[in-house]
Amino acid sequence: MEIRTYLDDQRRRVEDRLAALMLEPIGAFAEHIKAMRYSLFAGGKRIRPVLCLAGAEAVDDGEPARQRALSVACALECIHTYSLIHDDLPAMDDDDLRRGKPTNHTVFGEAAAILAGDGLLTFAFDLLSGPASATIADPARIRIIRTIAHAAGPLGMVGGQSLDMIYEGQQVGYEELRRIHRSKTGALITTSVACGAMVAGASEEQEAALTTYGDHIGLAFQIVDDLLDVEATTAELGKPAGSDVKSDKVTYPSLFGTETSRTMAREAVQEAVAALAGFDHRADPLRALARYIVDRKK
Ligand code: IPE
Ligand code: IPE
Ligand code: MG
Ligand code: MG
Ligand code: MG
Repeated sequence: MEIRTYLDDQRRRVEDRLAALMLEPIGAFAEHIKAMRYSLFAGGKRIRPVLCLAGAEAVDDGEPARQRALSVACALECIHTYSLIHDDLPAMDDDDLRRGKPTNHTVFGEAAAILAGDGLLTFAFDLLSGPASATIADPARIRIIRTIAHAAGPLGMVGGQSLDMIYEGQQVGYEELRRIHRSKTGALITTSVACGAMVAGASEEQEAALTTYGDHIGLAFQIVDDLLDVEATTAELGKPAGSDVKSDKVTYPSLFGTETSRTMAREAVQEAVAALAGFDHRADPLRALARYIVDRKK
């Protein structure tokens, strides 16, 4: 299968549904909603929502399952976009470019950017618990909400971001570095795949295998993000290259060098693909996405 075409098609479906679900910048809260929309619709690869759709497809490739997965996919993208807005703030990575555009806080100011992030995070749970996700039967829906809350929260993404900040400028060992990457980035990626599976009615075994797949690609994704930070240009990335060196972050290249880091990312992807051994052709998009994650140029 051609991964480019698959990505483009799925991305379009996500964009269309996001456009339909997102609040309009009108009424008393128009300024706040404008700031949320600015980052949400600034582009972005939409990898997490696409992984959610592909996770569902691996289990059930019927249209109803795909439709159910879409609202969850949109909620995941809202949470991811919020994390980027906050990640770029002066108090965090202090970056001025994101998705090829000036960062949220440079356009709207810091207070508005913090609130745009808060708004997107909270809105995601509105999407998951409200009418947009009503076609997901209740026991599954509650599990999905809980899984996403856990992955995005203090023992997942936010916890990882906290470690990432604490360890700036420090010497950190491999175990700790892996913990940072798996929590700040891996947790939401793993959850994207797992929630797609849940929406599609995966068995316990299928869900466990897809979670293992997600764990490996989640780690690979952040290793490659670290590599791109040193190897790609700002123009290619749409965000400032060299940001990690500037902030003295602990990264895979800083600990292992670029060559070993790339090998480690490749190995993680191989393990991810191996975890899909029990799946048929319906998991081909997940297999292709795993390879895309290490080969990507942005
Ligand atoms: C960037 O994520 C932040 C990380 C967790 C590494 P992406 O590389 O998915 O960013 P977008 O969504 O495409 O802008
Ligand atoms: C960010 O990691 C992880 C998030 C949860 C947003 P980075 O700080 O490396 O992400 P980029 O490189 O700014 O996109
Ligand atoms: Mg960061
Ligand atoms: Mg950053
Ligand atoms: Mg980075």
